[in-house]
Amino acid sequence: MIQSRENIQKFYVTTPIYYVNDVPHIGHAYTMVLADVLARWHRLRGDKVFFLTGTDEHGAKIEKAAQDNHELPQDFVDKISEKYKDSWQKLNISYNRFLRTTEESHSRAVTNIINRIWENGDIYKGEYEGWYCVPDETFLTNLQLIKGACPFCGREVKRVKEEAYFFRLSKYKDALLKLYAEEKSFLAPDNLANEIIARVSAGLKDLDITRTTVKWAIAFPKDKEHYVYVWVDALTNYLSGLDWPESGKFEEFWPPTVQIVGKEINWFHAVIWPSMLLSAGLELPKTILAHGWWTVNGEKMSKSKGNVVDPVKIVEKYSADALRYFFVREMPIGSDGNFSETNLINRINNELVADLGNFLNRVVTMAEKFDGTIAGTPELESKLDMKGIMDSMAALNIYGAIEKIWEFLRAANKYVNDNSVWSLEGAKKSNALYNLLESARIIAILISPFMPETAQKISMQLGVPLGGIDECKFAAYAGKVTKGEYLFQKIRR
Ligand code: MSP
Repeated sequence: MIQSRENIQKFYVTTPIYYVNDVPHIGHAYTMVLADVLARWHRLRGDKVFFLTGTDEHGAKIEKAAQDNHELPQDFVDKISEKYKDSWQKLNISYNRFLRTTEESHSRAVTNIINRIWENGDIYKGEYEGWYCVPDETFLTNLQLIKGACPFCGREVKRVKEEAYFFRLSKYKDALLKLYAEEKSFLAPDNLANEIIARVSAGLKDLDITRTTVKWAIAFPKDKEHYVYVWVDALTNYLSGLDWPESGKFEEFWPPTVQIVGKEINWFHAVIWPSMLLSAGLELPKTILAHGWWTVNGEKMSKSKGNVVDPVKIVEKYSADALRYFFVREMPIGSDGNFSETNLINRINNELVADLGNFLNRVVTMAEKFDGTIAGTPELESKLDMKGIMDSMAALNIYGAIEKIWEFLRAANKYVNDNSVWSLEGAKKSNALYNLLESARIIAILISPFMPETAQKISMQLGVPLGGIDECKFAAYAGKVTKGEYLFQKIRR
């Protein structure tokens, strides 16, 4: 599966933009790592990639957090958005743009999309009455409440009644159901798609998209008493992140290839967002990929429980690559998983130290000692399921891809033992080392989207540049080995 020039694709991947009422935690970091693995993988294929992330900085929740910290909202959001950028740098997240919704150009995009929806006759004035959860920025119906509280966070809700402008979401029910039926890859994975389809089939209510009470927001262009509902503001980031409607980036990358979201915000992305785009006459994203939630030691993460895990602390203790590996290896996208340091340490010791680190160490130790040319016939190539790996990644099955890469690594380890490579000599040793060094070189390329630092370290020790997907085939070994440090240190408990 080699990428030919004609086959170069554009790949536009987005993450949700994070609320700046609080600092990043491992849930946010997980979304980022999934997007980063996909972005890096597509760069490796030679595709044209744009990876967008950012921060969601308007709304009642942010205004309140700033007040609680005795800061002006703008100062507060400036500070917290920096924390997100710092964390993503520590995790080696290779985004192309970090968008903040308080940027001037973003406001212009929001005004623009509202004008288009308005011109399409999809906005009318009415009165909103219902429940509102401030922390989640969500309006709720009686039916949604659980024991009178917010069904998402369990917190108290407020009764609100106000004049509001509504978006005719109900008008898009049939179009959405048609979309889900015809574009099978629009909603992924299946287990989370079914819930959306069932809810839309049950009927859609029009959505109130303005507020008069929340003033830390973008002005509603049609009525100066009103401000834009934070979710309409936030969703537009995927357009303003490409400078829409102002620049060529939009023409180059629109529509999004994959939009990664947590399952609790799937509704906004799978229902409200495509309806807004249909109304505005814009092309729809190809896939909304929803992922599950992490608990911590079996419990929901929450500030009140004091069990919120800071990804930067984990990176400092164990390394960015260890955390990145853990995220993709521990649970398939769409399932829920449990984060515990014990599980992380097990994976580091059993997989990163024993499978990967020891393999490289054994191979480079033997190769450094070997006095002769390294050449041979590819005996391990048949263990490498390149098609399976490429297909898994194309199907957004990151979990399946890393599993297949690991199968190849295990086969290479087995080859060392089965052939007692350490005891071979002459041409036999040269052939075995050839197979092992080439396997290590290919493994470095394949793991580079998952563990970019480790991939670099491997290629340094092998004395070969880290290539692209095209180079994932056995060729002549053209490097000079220089043994380096162990890739990962065993963690003692
Ligand atoms: N600001 C909105 C998104 C607007 S996008 C136009 C928002 N922000 S958030 O900061 O609350 O969450 C962002 C992402 O973090 C979501 O995808 C969410 O699923 C993810 N996570 C938050 N906690 C999580 C876990 N415990 N586990 C996994 N991911 C979770 O929603």
